[in-house]
Amino acid sequence: MSQQNDSKLHSDAPIGVFDSGVGGLTVAREIMRQIPNEKIIYFGDTARVPYGSKSRDTITRFSKQIVRFLQTFEVKTIVVACNTASAYALDELEREIDIPIIGVVKPGAKTASEVTTNGRIGVIATEATIGSQIYTKYIKELNKDVTIYGKACPLFCPLIEEGLWQDPVTDEIARRYLSELIDIDIDTLILGCTHYPLIRSTLGRIMGDSVTLVNPAYETARELKEMLEEKGILNQEHPGLGANQYQFFVSDGAEKFKSFANSIIKYGILSAKTINIEEY
Ligand code: DGL
Repeated sequence: MSQQNDSKLHSDAPIGVFDSGVGGLTVAREIMRQIPNEKIIYFGDTARVPYGSKSRDTITRFSKQIVRFLQTFEVKTIVVACNTASAYALDELEREIDIPIIGVVKPGAKTASEVTTNGRIGVIATEATIGSQIYTKYIKELNKDVTIYGKACPLFCPLIEEGLWQDPVTDEIARRYLSELIDIDIDTLILGCTHYPLIRSTLGRIMGDSVTLVNPAYETARELKEMLEEKGILNQEHPGLGANQYQFFVSDGAEKFKSFANSIIKYGILSAKTINIEEY
């Protein structure tokens, strides 16, 4: 991270959270649960989703635009609630901005390495995240004796963005994707895309009780809280009703996003606004 002046960060400033679409809401939901006093500005790049099939350059360019947009709200920190952007763009973003920024991959890797008992961990994620080998890198740094099996699941994100969370089509595709992981006896499966917790029940049913599903959102929110405490910028007072505590922005389809968000987050989300992200 570049040199930062923490005294410039205000505890009542919002936290910026972003993803390619609705997936990051699974992380936002966890932040709301663990640190309920915080304000959140969420951006979902619904016009350009999925990120998982795009190149490093494109993902980095998109992520930089979003960070510039979030900074217009003078956010005190940014959570990259997208594994693909965490894998490809986080290092560059860290170098560019002078506020703390955290991703979801490191926290997920940490949890999985603590959870496994047989040392066989599966990771399901986008093509880009699997291709980056980032989970393998971080998990091996924590425990070099584990074996990691990555499986790209490119159809999950579009199915989830279409709302097919509990649908025979998703079920069938999940069976195909997961069959090779079942055959190799993993005991831990990382949901390495923030969209996947939305089909957690399907994934859990197919993998069976002997496999622990790891959702990096929990650990990400925990690490975020810890970091805010360390820097003395955890919001101590609840912003109060009507204070626009949670604001949502997308690059397309605000109405559709709003109804998804309301089924994921139980705070009665009143609005989501469309903005032109290409302007940033
Ligand atoms: N939710 C994202 C992730 O965690 C990206 C999915 C996509 O846009 O392909 O990787």
